[in-house]
Amino acid sequence: MARRKIEAMRSIVTGASSGIGRAVALELVRRGANCVLMARNEERLLDLAADCNAIDHGGQVEIVVGDVTDSGVRKLAIEKSVISFGGVDAVINNAGVGSFGRFADSTPERLRRIMDVNFFAAVELIRESLPALLRGKNPIVVNVGSILGHRGIPRMHEYCTSKFALQGFSQSLRVELRGEGVDLLMVSPGTTDTEFYENVMHGRGNVPWNKGRGTPVAVVAKKTVRAMELGKREIVPNTMGRLLLLANWHVPHWVDRVLERFA
Ligand SMILES: NC(=O)c1ccc[n+]([C@@H]2O[C@H](COP(=O)([O-])OP(=O)(O)OC[C@H]3O[C@@H](n4cnc5c(N)ncnc54)[C@H](OP(=O)(O)O)[C@@H]3O)[C@@H](O)[C@H]2O)c1
Repeated sequence: MARRKIEAMRSIVTGASSGIGRAVALELVRRGANCVLMARNEERLLDLAADCNAIDHGGQVEIVVGDVTDSGVRKLAIEKSVISFGGVDAVINNAGVGSFGRFADSTPERLRRIMDVNFFAAVELIRESLPALLRGKNPIVVNVGSILGHRGIPRMHEYCTSKFALQGFSQSLRVELRGEGVDLLMVSPGTTDTEFYENVMHGRGNVPWNKGRGTPVAVVAKKTVRAMELGKREIVPNTMGRLLLLANWHVPHWVDRVLERFA
């Protein structure tokens, strides 16, 4: 996978209005990349655009307001990048939402909505932007998955399913795209200090591992942009996330028991 310059990179960041997406956009712009910022909350996007514009020698930004599951909104983001910046070099699929609750009490609608936002929208944005990416400079797709795309946990089956799907899709696509010169970076964060747990679609996100122990969002953003620069294939930017993966690899039955007791 290629090393690339972040400066002057033409990028699209979904879910840029808060958390990891916002921090990644700020880091990209600080390093001279041009960004189309996409999310539903217009006020927050305008606020982020103002912060980006205040950065000395930073890149330029455009905003696109709307739901990432709407193909018209996704196509508008691609169009904005092409018209305003001259093309697309990076697509960062970060928009995502969680949900809590037992499978027995859940609904098919909730599962479908989570799959639409976390999985299908990301896949379709890649499909729609591929022609532009293939004409881009050192192009890259970044999919923000989760440590829960490697290890399922109880009461979050919709979310885990969507992130496992994104992980499997990304592994498959990475190898296909390599021959065409497009890199694919998978970012699999563990608990990160964002509003994610307040924004869940259903249930309450007051789980034991979310008690002020999240990795600072700026750390995850810096590691993500650095991994893009170095052309890495996957990163797990949090120590606790890496420990969970290790434990699950060696003693999965023990992880089952801990989760049964505490999650
Ligand atoms: N925080 C964690 O502990 C953690 C851990 C692992 C993985 N992740 C992943 O990291 C990504 C970012 O999450 P975060 O932690 O930064 O949470 P967050 O602060 O809640 O941010 C989520 C972002 O996604 C956007 N979004 C949600 N639904 C959308 C929709 N239908 N259309 C367009 N945008 C939508 C939100 O914007 P609007 O509401 O303005 O649309 C917001 O900008 C997600 O994919 C999440 O699964 C987070």
